[in-house]
Amino acid sequence: MGESLSRGSARNRSEGVEKMVNLYQRLAASSVWRSLFRSGTGDSALRRSLLIYNALILHIHPVKVRRRTLAFRSTYYLGGISLLLLIILVVTGILLMFYYRPAIPEAYQDMKDLEFVVTSGMFIRNMHRWAAHSMVIVVFLHMLRVFFHGAYRPPRQFNWVIGVFLLIGTLLLSYTGYLLPWDQLAHWAVNVGTNMVGYAPVIGQKIRFYLLGGHQIGANALIRFYVLHCVVIPAAMVWLIAVHLWRVRKDGGLADPIKREES
Ligand code: HEM
Repeated sequence: MGESLSRGSARNRSEGVEKMVNLYQRLAASSVWRSLFRSGTGDSALRRSLLIYNALILHIHPVKVRRRTLAFRSTYYLGGISLLLLIILVVTGILLMFYYRPAIPEAYQDMKDLEFVVTSGMFIRNMHRWAAHSMVIVVFLHMLRVFFHGAYRPPRQFNWVIGVFLLIGTLLLSYTGYLLPWDQLAHWAVNVGTNMVGYAPVIGQKIRFYLLGGHQIGANALIRFYVLHCVVIPAAMVWLIAVHLWRVRKDGGLADPIKREES
């Protein structure tokens, strides 16, 4: 009795699986599905390659990578973590932009509202701050990793230079974000920073003037730092990262330290 019951339920299960497979096959053959996924069906090497080529997100990786370079020890995933932190910064930054007004005295009031009035405001603001601090550290560690693996050597020297601009961009993002809360800490930190810029030979004072929109830190400086922080530098970073990742591929994938030691 029990045996026939279990045989019956096994048959029901296999019929269920068969129905699901049929449904998937009908779906995959439909014109809507084929307009979205152009790599066909089946499990051939060609189809697997096409899947990667045709998907925007998967396309970040090349179709073929050396298995060794995927190991944690190869990169410590530091470049990827830098990118993840930038994405967190962009998302939380956009959320903060819904509340923050770059004007005096609204800027300071909005920061206080974010902390004490807006639901999850404190969480979003702190997430933005911690991601910013972490990004400076992680990008620096990524640079050290590249250096100690000798991955800056030809043919990767151009990508190293792109990386230097990315490091400068990361530091500038932190610096321009500093003024935005318009509190005492921000005001005096930016005062010290822009005064230091002013000491650069020949063009120092001019750059300081352009940055502040005058000779003192006030409403002009706030709006300039805001536009640099929310638009100009992030846009430049996105473009540089696109070139950076594209170059990793064009330079023959990630450097393979083991292979170099052998040669
Ligand atoms: C926002 C900052 C940055 C992001 C998002 C980023 C992202 C990445 C990613 C995802 C990779 C491939 C995987 C990995 O190595 O983890 C990579 C590789 C590389 N990065 Fe960066 N990077 C940044 C900054 C830098 C800096 C500051 C330098 C050097 C000054 C640099 C130089 C390189 C080089 C030379 C490679 C190729 C490494 C190899 O072939 O082993 N990058 N980067």
